[in-house]
Amino acid sequence: MVYKRKDLIGTKDLSKEEILYFIELAKEFKTLNNSDFKKSSALHGKTVINAFYENSTRTRISFEIAAKRLAADAINFTASQSSSKKGETLQDTIHNMEAMKTDIFVLRHSCSGAAQFVANNTDASIINAGDGLNEHPTQALLDIFTILEHKGKLEGLTVAIIGDIFHSRVARSDIWAMQKLGINIKLFGPPMMLSNVEVFGCHICKSMQEAIEGSDVLIMLRIQLERQDGTPAFPSVREYSKFFGLTSAKMKLANKNVLVMHPGPINRGVELDSSVADDKNVSIILHQVENGVAVRMAVLHALNLYRNSRK
Ligand code: CP
Repeated sequence: MVYKRKDLIGTKDLSKEEILYFIELAKEFKTLNNSDFKKSSALHGKTVINAFYENSTRTRISFEIAAKRLAADAINFTASQSSSKKGETLQDTIHNMEAMKTDIFVLRHSCSGAAQFVANNTDASIINAGDGLNEHPTQALLDIFTILEHKGKLEGLTVAIIGDIFHSRVARSDIWAMQKLGINIKLFGPPMMLSNVEVFGCHICKSMQEAIEGSDVLIMLRIQLERQDGTPAFPSVREYSKFFGLTSAKMKLANKNVLVMHPGPINRGVELDSSVADDKNVSIILHQVENGVAVRMAVLHALNLYRNSRK
């Protein structure tokens, strides 16, 4: 066993070996997912609750599918229909669901640090499914798995992350994880969306051309309006699209075998034109979504192995 922790909170404190362990497990689960009988008994008898305090399509559904494919009892908790609307705290909510013998919580919350806070105060395992602008570790793992599948290697690749870096938990988790694997990272976006990003030690580009040229992978990010305080970070959506959006015309600057990725949801015509998003020669966005299930099965399985070893 390589992963000897109760929780998965972020990639910042993961080792290279732990990241590659999840990827190796995900490869096995992808093989299972492509078979006729997409079922393992690994988590039979275990209970997994998806506790989502923020909206989600890909992450919530893929965790639910993952838990069910591993034969766990998977329950979805939606905060907007829960007693949190009557004032119940996050900690009380988790403790109450833990009293029902829940083994693993998958938590998404708008507050940075929420997953670590809950993990420190429960015996159940916590998987961070996105906390504020802090981390989204399973997105980073599925991004790395998808790049490895398409490029056959990770070390020495150049990945450009373009858009709203400052408000993006995906960017943070990608950067922390990819740097450990020897991937060179370039960042580009509007100045207000690049504030403080020098702490990552990545190359910060001065133009879209510099970000695109020479990159093996372009990761386009959505503008995270839900994490902005109302002060516009750019003059208009039209200007954002013109200067920071990826179009077929700008793709002419790219390497021949460049790959385009996006964590979703896409704002078509803003950060990414449909002509690029739907171009199967370059866009691997739906491969990311497919791999999300296998990666989440890998994480659930690894945490369950650790829990079993502690009995
Ligand atoms: N990538 C991602 O986290 O998508 P959702 O918000 O739909 O889960």
